[in-house]
Order: sequence, then structure tokens, then C-alpha cells
Amino acid sequence: MQQIEVNSSQPKSQAYPTLLKQVQALCYGEANIIANLANISALLYQTFGWHWVGFYMVQQNELVLGPFQGPVACTRIAFGKGVCGTAWELKKAQLVPNVNEFPGHIACSSLSQSELVVPIIKNNEVLAVLDADSDTLNHFDAVDQKGLEALCEFMASLF
Ligand code: SME
Repeated sequence: MQQIEVNSSQPKSQAYPTLLKQVQALCYGEANIIANLANISALLYQTFGWHWVGFYMVQQNELVLGPFQGPVACTRIAFGKGVCGTAWELKKAQLVPNVNEFPGHIACSSLSQSELVVPIIKNNEVLAVLDADSDTLNHFDAVDQKGLEALCEFMASLF
């Protein structure tokens, strides 16, 4: 395994390209998806210091909690429900500046204020979603969305 040096003080626009290279190095030669997603969630958490970051995996027509970092979270989410289920249904990233204004938002932690969910899509099928939660309002922006979308595009190749 490669030694990964986490730099949490870079501006976001630089942090995402660095992160993508680190993720590619971290997962190189490792075929186990849980091991890879576990390390990716840790790397994202260390780099950005978000309140919660992790994965929900599509399993038997629902989302099931996968590797994550942060407080305990709800284990299952139905298709079309909450921010994660909506990203799955619409096959599109959901950038939510204020979770209290998102109809049907699932509050796993009362501290979460804003959220960004990006689906991981392979052959036009959603396999999992990456969920990032912040304890401040308006935390995520288009730079985060583009950065995580590029990461999720790479992650699709890990499945
Ligand atoms: N808030 C998410 C649920 C997952 S937790 O935030 C970890 C949602 O509405 O789908």
C-alpha cells in the first residue's frame, strides 16, 4: 500500500485533484470494495473534516449503510427517500445547502445542516451513493460537487 500524506490545509480546488490521485494510489491492486471504500471515507474525513462522510450501497432494492466516518447513522434508506434515496432515484448529485428545507430529509444526526450526495453509477445503474454531511449551513458548493463527481466516476471502476 502507498503511503498517503493528508494535507488538510489546501484550497478545495487543489485538494480534489490531489485526493483523486491519492484514492487511485490507495486502491491500486486492491479488489475488495469494502476495504477500498473504508479507506476512501477515512481519507475524505481526514482531508475535509466533515461531520459525516460515507457510503450507502444499493442492496436488494434499498440503500444499506456501508463504510463511513463520523457518528452512527441510519442503516437502511428506501428508493427515492431522503437526500440519498433521491440521488439514487434521479441518478444525479444532490447539493443541499440547508437540510431542514429538503422535503423528506432523513436526519441521522441533528447536527447535520448541509449535505452533498453523489451517486456512483456504472453501466447506467446506481451501485452506491457517497454522502457528505456538514454541521454548518451552505457548506458544500459546485467545487465540492465537481470534485466528488470525478471521484465517484473513478470509484465506479472499483466495483
Ligand atoms: N441525511 C441522509 C441520510 C443519511 S445520513 O445523513 C448519514 C438523507 O436524507 O438521505
